[in-house]
Amino acid sequence: MNWKYQLSDVDLGEEEAQAVADVVRGKWLSIGPRTAQFEQAFAQWMQVKHAIAVSNCTTALHLALIASGVGPGDEVLLPSYTFVASANAVLYTGATPVFVDIVGPKDLNLSCDDLERKITLQTKAIMAVHLAGFPCDMDRIHALAAKHGLKVIEDACHAIGASYMGRKDGHLYGKKVGTLGDAGCFSFFANKNLVTGEGGMLVTDDDEIASKTRLLRSHGMTKSSWDKASGRATDYDVTCLGYNYRCTEITAAIGLIQLRKLASNNSQRLELVVEYRKLLGSVPGIILPFVDRLEDSAHHIFPVVLAESGRQSLVRQKLAENGIQTSLHYLPVHLFSHYRQLFPNVQLDQTESTSQREITLPLHPLMSIDDVRNISQAFIECIR
Ligand SMILES: Cc1ncc(COP(=O)(O)O)c(C=O)c1O
Repeated sequence: MNWKYQLSDVDLGEEEAQAVADVVRGKWLSIGPRTAQFEQAFAQWMQVKHAIAVSNCTTALHLALIASGVGPGDEVLLPSYTFVASANAVLYTGATPVFVDIVGPKDLNLSCDDLERKITLQTKAIMAVHLAGFPCDMDRIHALAAKHGLKVIEDACHAIGASYMGRKDGHLYGKKVGTLGDAGCFSFFANKNLVTGEGGMLVTDDDEIASKTRLLRSHGMTKSSWDKASGRATDYDVTCLGYNYRCTEITAAIGLIQLRKLASNNSQRLELVVEYRKLLGSVPGIILPFVDRLEDSAHHIFPVVLAESGRQSLVRQKLAENGIQTSLHYLPVHLFSHYRQLFPNVQLDQTESTSQREITLPLHPLMSIDDVRNISQAFIECIR
C-alpha cells in the first residue's frame, strides 16, 4: 500500500550510510570496538554506570530478568497493554507473568492500585512499560517494590530520551527514563525513536546485574572473539549457561549517529503532538491519553481513544481510504491465543475496553505540522 501518511518513518541518511560503509571496510562485523564506543556514549548520555548493547529489547528484558534473579516459581507483574515481547521475556525465564490492568483511556500505563492488589509472596519483580513514551508512576512503583523487596525492570522501548517528572521532592525526579529501576531496556527496532533495524540496550547502575548481563549476552564466555582477534586474550572459560544475544558493529555504528540525532527528533515529535492536541483536544468523541502531561515523554506514538466502542475498525478503514496508515497499541497480551491457553481466567476491564477503542495515528520526526493538520482534519471527518 502506498500511504500518503505512513504511521512511522525514520531519520536515516548519508551519515549512517557512511558509518556502515566504514564498518564493512574494517571487516570486523560482530561485537567489537564500535559496540564499546556506542555503549560508552549511551551510558554517558543516560547518566548511568553501565550500558550493555544486545541484539534487541526482548533479549535485554530476558537478561534483565535473569540477572535480577527471576526464575521458575517467581511471578512478575506487568501490564497486558504492551507488546507481546514484554510478557514473552518473562515466560523465557520460567517465571509467571501476572497481568496488571491499566489506569484507563486517559492513562494507558499500569494501574498501581491493581499492581498492589496482585502482589503475592511469589512476586519477584515489576516490569514497568512506559506507554507511548510517558513514564509510569515510578515513585509509587518504587515504594511498593521497596516495601515488598521486589526488583523493578523498565521496558523503556517507547521512552528513550524521556526524563521523569513525578514527585518533585522524590529521588527519581529529573532522571532519564530507563535509569529509574534496577535495569532499563531499550529497543532500536525499525520504527523506534532511535533506530538501527534490530538492536537493544540494557542500562543499570548495579554492578552485579551488569557483569551477569555481559556474561550471559555471549554464551557465558569470559572473553569475546574480539578480545582474541585483537590479541588481548588467547583462551576463555564458560562459567554459566549463556546465550548469543550480541549486538553487531553495524548496529553500533548506526546507533552512534542516531544517538546524536535523538534529542532534535524527539523535539520534533513533541511539536507534532502539541499540534495534534490543539486540533483534537476538544473534539467530542475523542479521548487523548496523557493529555495533562507533555514534557516528560519521548512521544514514540500518538494513541487516541474513541469515546464510543464498536467504531474502531470502521474509522481505521475510512482513514486508510484517505491514505492514512494507523495501528493499534495494543491488542492485550492476555487475549492472544497462546496466552489465553496459559492463563484462561485473566480479565482486565480497562485494558480490554480501551484496546477496543484505541487508534494510533501517524507520528514520526519527518512529519510536518501541515501533515498533522491534514491527518487531524481527515480524522475528525471520519469520526463524525
Ligand atoms: C513495549 C515494547 N516492549 C518490547 C519490545 C521488543 O523490542 P525488540 O523488537 O527490540 O525486541 C517492543 C518493540 O516493539 C516494544 O514496543
